[in-house]
Amino acid sequence: MRPPSEEAARRRTFAIISHPDAGKTTLTEKFLLYGGALQSAGAVKARGERRRVTSDWMEMEQKRGISITSTVLQFPYRDSVLNLLDTPGHRDFSEDTYRVLAAADAAVMVLDAAKGIEPQTLKLFEVCRERNLPLLTFINKWDRPGRDPLELLDQIEAQLDIVPTPVTWPVGIPGDFRGVVDRGTSTYVRFTRTARGATEAGEKVRTFDEAAAEEGEAWAAATDELALLDEVGAHADPERFRKGEVTPVFFGSALTNFGVRLLLDAVVDLAPSPLPRDDIAGLPRPLDAPFSAFVFKVQANMDPSHRDRIAFVRVCSGRFERGMVVEHGPSGKPFATKYAHSVFGQERDTIEEAWPGDVIGLVNATGVTVGDALYVDPPVEFPRLPEFAPEHFVVARVRDTGRFKQFRRGIAQLDEEGVVQVLRDQDLGDQAPLLAAVGPMQFEVASHRLEHEFGAPTELSPTTWRVARRTDEASTPALRSMHGVAVYARAEGTRYALFESPYWLARVEGEHPGLVLERLVAEGTAG
Ligand code: G4P
Repeated sequence: MRPPSEEAARRRTFAIISHPDAGKTTLTEKFLLYGGALQSAGAVKARGERRRVTSDWMEMEQKRGISITSTVLQFPYRDSVLNLLDTPGHRDFSEDTYRVLAAADAAVMVLDAAKGIEPQTLKLFEVCRERNLPLLTFINKWDRPGRDPLELLDQIEAQLDIVPTPVTWPVGIPGDFRGVVDRGTSTYVRFTRTARGATEAGEKVRTFDEAAAEEGEAWAAATDELALLDEVGAHADPERFRKGEVTPVFFGSALTNFGVRLLLDAVVDLAPSPLPRDDIAGLPRPLDAPFSAFVFKVQANMDPSHRDRIAFVRVCSGRFERGMVVEHGPSGKPFATKYAHSVFGQERDTIEEAWPGDVIGLVNATGVTVGDALYVDPPVEFPRLPEFAPEHFVVARVRDTGRFKQFRRGIAQLDEEGVVQVLRDQDLGDQAPLLAAVGPMQFEVASHRLEHEFGAPTELSPTTWRVARRTDEASTPALRSMHGVAVYARAEGTRYALFESPYWLARVEGEHPGLVLERLVAEGTAG
């Protein structure tokens, strides 16, 4: 049998970050097409059918009160195995969206050519930056009118403070997209459409002279732009890419499959394979060490007949074999892995083995929470996952005071699982805690579970709080005495100062520079 490090070397574990509608779903589908996992892309099935699938999922989400669409997709490409982690967006946006990035080794940022960077792209990018995650950029929808490519590069550099280095360059204006220059090989790749993008796009490789003869003015315009890029030295630098300082840029159209292959090739050729993960003391656990993994997401199943919890774990070292007994770090208890799944959408396939970089869903994960390590001796503890600043706040009150005990138990459980953050005012006690979340969907989940799982129907009322900053004990009295500011604490001790607007926060910061008002990851951008 091959050692885990060899299996790891074949793997690429990555996520796509984008704003809703930039084309993440379409691109995912096309990745599967190029990976041979789909005969023809799903979009070609009647659009109605795709819609129906979406709404089925949504209905099920509603029934279960959770997002079931967010997991991992594994498919082969060339000699590699790609693990594509989904970052839930739209109404599913939650802390899970961010935590998924803790399990990825690289990310593909998809931008809509007409829109450039949008609020959700920015939030997710911040999390990538926090981890120095290598980032590839795909400028999508080049088949229709969009912005000037150089202007898009400027926007990336100005807003994200990362240097865009185009690997491909488009020939033909947005809306009349002919092909791309592959700057690495100095060739021109001309694309041809296939009916509705159902199968791989036709690609013809041309020399520059042939391209000049074929494409005329469009070629002349592209070469002018390329000369400009050469002048500013916008060339890929693998070392700086791995540190997240530069982002290789690709132009394409997921709908027509233009540029999809070049992007997938880059995932394999540029993105890093799983590396030894540092433990809490900063010591890397070798890939060939015995099995270890960490939990990056826990999903409670709210169907009363299957009240189980699935823990999604990313393998960090060793070989996982279904049925092996592993140890759960925080409790020291053995954990049986008879029910190990790969989970995508409603589909659950049993997984027999897994290697570093792979993701497994473990059923019956009672007592397991996000950040926990599972391993076979020697023990390991991985660093805690970062906390993300909540941006939505509601007050929770049990509807029937006779159910207060159940309410309190449920609230404590949801806090511990990280479904919502539960905040308390030091004077108000337990009656009406403040629930805080990254995305409003988390409240729906909390409310559903309080009612159905804990038997405590709960009223959630809106508040005027909009921005949170982490603060400390010393700053608390001053903050509490201010108008339009409140200080709330989590059970584990973290304190948040809450403000009604970014404007008010800026004012307090300006007037009281001595106060601790710490910004958390991925916070402070609207949308
Ligand atoms: P998301 O997951 O990021 O939210 O985006 P999704 O792939 O669902 O794409 C959003 C819309 O953009 C879809 O259109 C999709 O067909 C379109 N789209 C994606 N990639 C491209 C592209 O390269 N070129 C063009 N022109 N359009 C693209 P829709 O009308 O909302 O949905 P549908 O009816 O096509 O399914």
